[in-house]
This record gives sequence, structure tokens and C-alpha cells, in this order.
Amino acid sequence: MSTTKKYDVHLMSELKSRAPRLFGIPTGVEGLDELFYTVEIENGKVRKIPLGGYPYLSVLNITGIADTGKSLMAEQFAVKQASLGYKVCFVTVETPKEFLVQSLKYRATAMGIPTEKVENNILIIDCASNARLRENLDELLDTLAYAIREYDVKSVVIDSITGLYEAKEVLARSIVRKVYNFMKKWRQTCILVSQKRSSSEELTAEAAGGYGVAHIVDGTIVLYKKLIQSKFDTSTYGLPLGSIVRLMRIDGCRMTGHDTRTFVFEITSTGLVKIKAPLEEYVKSVAVVKR
Ligand SMILES: Nc1ncnc2c1ncn2[C@@H]1O[C@H](COP(=O)(O)OP(=O)(O)O)[C@@H](O)[C@H]1O
Ligand SMILES: [Mg+2]
Repeated sequence: MSTTKKYDVHLMSELKSRAPRLFGIPTGVEGLDELFYTVEIENGKVRKIPLGGYPYLSVLNITGIADTGKSLMAEQFAVKQASLGYKVCFVTVETPKEFLVQSLKYRATAMGIPTEKVENNILIIDCASNARLRENLDELLDTLAYAIREYDVKSVVIDSITGLYEAKEVLARSIVRKVYNFMKKWRQTCILVSQKRSSSEELTAEAAGGYGVAHIVDGTIVLYKKLIQSKFDTSTYGLPLGSIVRLMRIDGCRMTGHDTRTFVFEITSTGLVKIKAPLEEYVKSVAVVKR
């Protein structure tokens, strides 16, 4: 048998040993770790096993319109990973580094984690202040590669990827593809935040720049806020007119199984995203209370 391969064709059995192990990377979001799972065959029966976090080495997209909790989730992930002793690189595209630090400190405290426990594990690349990094993807990826190599970074957050193709949305797909391939090459678990421009099709994965992100990444988490604005809404959700109900859905995840239901979540008074219950159960419990 020839050992030099002329064509890029592989037998699955040859690749098996190179496939990454499937396990969860804690999200830092209460109630979210349990929504990803894998399956095992036990005594001839297929059994679901919770992963306990985002799938290891996945590139996930958190999307939603403004003020839906995307940045909170991104920060909670960074703080959680750092508190576990893993280096995280946070690429900030919207918020200048000084403000991000303040926000991360606040988030850590709300999560009951002392700042000292995380501050040496979070690296920040500030594309908000540095326009060259923001506008030159190769330079940004070079900087990221340096950080990953020098500090042994295990996961990356980009808030937001949309900010990297502002005013050049025709390039969205190629930028996202390049970032995706980079994360795979450098074996990073990665959270990309993307901004949805309009509130049409609120709970779908479509983000600014068309399907720039959703079709390329391994999975999307969609966040949505609904204004309670009719009598029907008030009785369905058990909330007063003018209040907000927050909804979350995992919209496809190639790497693992996941809960496909829509969930109600809250942003606590201390600014933490917390998953509460599947929408169907939440609505049922409201109906029971009313009876
Ligand atoms: N410290 C806090 N305490 C309470 N609520 C907060 C706090 N920080 C943010 N929030 C709420 O969370 C919402 C979502 O914030 P954020 O994650 O920044 O949204 P985005 O999806 O635009 O990134 C904000 O509009 C605000 O209402
Ligand atoms: Mg944000």
C-alpha cells in the first residue's frame, strides 16, 4: 500500500483517533449546561448524557437584537472559565478594554467569584479602541495566535463578530469562515456574539449580514425579548403590560444533541443570565396559578 497520499480522501477508521473527545465546557449560565447532551449505547439502548456545558472545541454563535443578554452570556462564560483556571481570550469589538474590565469585575462579583481569581486568566484584545485590529482580520488573527501560543489560551470570545464586518457586509461570510477555520486550527472553544439587526423572525438564527454566521458555525443560541403588549400576552405570560419576557433557543448544534425547546430566561437584578424553564412549562404554570 502506498504511504504517500495523493488525494485528500480518508477512511473514517483512520481519522477516528484524531476526533476530539466530546465533553462540556461550563457556560457560567445557570440552567444552560444541562441543555447540551450526547448519546451512548448502554445495554442495547440509546441513552442521553448531559455534557455539562458548551461542546468542547465548538464554535458557537450567540445572536439577538440589542439588549437581549448576549454580552452578559459572553462575559459569564469568560469569567467561569477563568475561575476554573483556564485562560480565555476576550476580543472586545464594541466596548473599550477599560469598560470591559469593569464589566467583567462586576460579573465575577455577581457570580460570587473574587476578581483575583480570574484577572490573571482573562486576556483582552481591544478592537474597539484599535481600528487597525478591527479592520484588518489577518492582523487580529496574528494577535490572537500570539496570545494563544504565549498564554496557552483554551477558549476565545469575540463580542461581536458583527463589528468586524461593519459597513462591509458582503465580506461577512468570508470573515466568519476565516475566524471559524482559525478556531478549529488552534483548537479553541469559541463564542461569537452576533447582532441581529431587526426584530423580524426574532427567534431564528438569521443575523446581520444575512446568514453570514449561522450557516458556518457549529451552532447558534438565539436570544429574544418580547414586550408584553396585549391582554392575551398578560394572561399567557402572567406578566403586566409593558414588561418583558426573555426567550432563548438553541438553534441547531452540529456537534452534539441539544434541547430544542424555547426557554424562558431572566436577567437577574445583579445582571446575570439565568435559564428558568421551557416556555411550554412556564405558560402552563402561569395557567395553574391563575386557576
Ligand atoms: N448589572 C446589571 N444589572 C441588571 N441588569 C443588567 C445589568 N447589566 C445588564 N443588565 C441588563 O441586561 C440587558 C442585556 O445586556 P447585554 O448583555 O449587554 O445586551 P446585548 O445583547 O446587547 O449584548 C441590558 O439591557 C440590561 O437591561
Ligand atoms: Mg452587547
